[in-house]
Amino acid sequence: MKQFTSVNDVENIDELLNSALKIKANPFDQQEIGKNKTIGLIFFNPSLRTRLSSIKAAYNLGANVWVLNAGADSWTLEMADGTVMDGDSQEHITEAIQVMSAYCDVLGVRTFPKLVDRDEDYNEIMFNKVKSLSSVPVVSLESATLHPLQSFADLITIAEKIGYDAIAKPKKKVKVVMTWAPHPRRLPQAVPNSFAEWFSKVDWVDFTIVQPKGMELDPKFTEGATIMYDQDEALKDADFVYAKNWSSYENYGQANEGDKDWQVTMDKMNLTNNGKFMHCLPVRRNVVVSDEVLDSDVSIVIDEATNRIFSAQTVFHEILKNK
Ligand code: CP
Repeated sequence: MKQFTSVNDVENIDELLNSALKIKANPFDQQEIGKNKTIGLIFFNPSLRTRLSSIKAAYNLGANVWVLNAGADSWTLEMADGTVMDGDSQEHITEAIQVMSAYCDVLGVRTFPKLVDRDEDYNEIMFNKVKSLSSVPVVSLESATLHPLQSFADLITIAEKIGYDAIAKPKKKVKVVMTWAPHPRRLPQAVPNSFAEWFSKVDWVDFTIVQPKGMELDPKFTEGATIMYDQDEALKDADFVYAKNWSSYENYGQANEGDKDWQVTMDKMNLTNNGKFMHCLPVRRNVVVSDEVLDSDVSIVIDEATNRIFSAQTVFHEILKNK
C-alpha cells in the first residue's frame, strides 16, 4: 500500500480485513516493522478517537509518533498560493508540509470541509495539497469527503460480530442499513460517503441507505447500495444499523430541519433482526440516538472505537512493510 486516502487504495478488502483480525489477535507481534520509523499526525481539526487510536497503533508497531495541531501548536499557516503574507499567517503550507514530512515516514492528515463551496471540498483541494507536498506516504485521518480509517474499523467490527471467516464467507448476506439521523449542526458527508464506498464493495453485505428526500449523498459513493426514504421499512430485518447525520450534498452544506423522528430509538431497533447499533462517535445523545439504545447491549459503538486502533495499525503496517 502506497497511501491510504480511500477504499480505492486497498487492493483486496478481504485480505486487509484478515490482516486486521490477525493483528488484533496479536497486536505486539509486528514491532520490527515500526522500529526506527516515525508516524507524523497533523490535525487541522479536532479529534479524540483518530488522534489517540493512531498514536496507540503506532506504539503497537514499535514506531515513534508525533502529533501537531496545525495552527494551534504551530505557526499560523497560510493556505492560499500567491498571497502577500503581511497579515496574521506566519508560515506557508508549502514549507510546513515539506518540513513535517521530512520528520516522519508516514504522514497522517485530517482536513475537514468548509461546507461552503462543494467543488472545493469535493476536489479535496486542501488534502491534495498536503499530499502533493509530502515526501512520504499520506494516510487520511478524515478528509473533506472521506474517512476511510473509520469505515475500515466499522468493517472490522461487523466482521467480528458475525464471526467472519475469510474462507467460508457468510452464507446469507449481512443486512447493513445506514440511516440518516438528526443533528443540531451542519455536518460533513465524509463518514457516510466513506461507509457507503466501503460497504457497497463488500460482497457478503446487503447494503441499504435510508435518508429524508434531498439528503442523498454523491452518487459516486453510493453505487450498488439500495436507496430508501422510509426509515421503518429500511430497518426491517437489519443486522446492523449505522446512524449518522450529514448535511445535504445537493443543496450543499444545508441541514435538513424538522426530521427529529429519525432519531434511533429502541422502538426502531425492535424492527430489526436483533440488529446492533453503530455510530462513529462523537454522538449527541437523545438527538441522534436515545440513551436507551446507547446504554444497552444493542450498542457496539465502543467496539467500533476500539477497532480504530486496529484499522490504523493495519494500514500503518501495510505502508511501513514496504519501506
Ligand atoms: N470517529 C472519529 O473520527 O472520531 P474523532 O473525530 O474523535 O477522531
